[in-house]
Amino acid sequence: MGVVCVVLGAEASGPPWLIIVGAFFLVQAIIYLRTTLWGKFGAWEKLLDDLALHGDEQLLDVGCGRGAVLLAAAQRLPTGRVHGIDLWRSADQSGNDESVTAGNAEAEGVADRVELHTGDMTALSFPDASFDVVTSSLAIHNLRSLTSRFQALDEALRVLRPGGKVVVADIRSAKNYAEHLRGVGAADVSVRNLGPGFWFGGPWQATSVVTATKP
Ligand SMILES: C[S@@+](CC[C@H](N)C(=O)[O-])C[C@H]1O[C@@H](n2cnc3c(N)ncnc32)[C@H](O)[C@@H]1O
Repeated sequence: MGVVCVVLGAEASGPPWLIIVGAFFLVQAIIYLRTTLWGKFGAWEKLLDDLALHGDEQLLDVGCGRGAVLLAAAQRLPTGRVHGIDLWRSADQSGNDESVTAGNAEAEGVADRVELHTGDMTALSFPDASFDVVTSSLAIHNLRSLTSRFQALDEALRVLRPGGKVVVADIRSAKNYAEHLRGVGAADVSVRNLGPGFWFGGPWQATSVVTATKP
């Protein structure tokens, strides 16, 4: 759309304001690409750094998709194990398939410590208190209702061991997540905006992270 508007606006008969509209779309596209190709990976590197992992933890990535967070976590857990759970919806992420994520784990050299599961984040198949860390990136907000998003958070807390940490980065509802987590007794709940590096087109599509500890 940006290119079309700029080209039409630059024609002799075209309205010059179309160039401004086109430039607006182009800037949004550049910001979006920067986030999806680099920004989100950089932001998650910092979020994983903040967890100060020992290297032997059990980590679950909810809605892992093709493995952006899952595989970055696996790199940091040489003697641990990372589990990714997903419904592999291509409507939410292009090329989304368990075999693609498994291939990415092979390519990253971490396949020996990665386990993939097909399942719904609102009804996790894992026993209570089985993980040290639960992460989720841009996945819980794909659930339609706030009630089901809260259900996914409840499940994340249920499968965490006492003292375990949950880290959720999402475009919408982060403040609601924080309120809900406080309401169900999670400790050290904090929410913060991850800045321009995690904007999907502009500040109106900014990503925030919610972190909490299971008491
Ligand atoms: C936008 S993608 C994000 C993938 C990955 N976390 C990332 O940051 O690149 C959202 C993911 O959530 C998954 N998803 C959506 N609803 C789900 C559900 N109810 N249970 C499990 N996964 C789900 C989708 O299949 C998709 O892989």
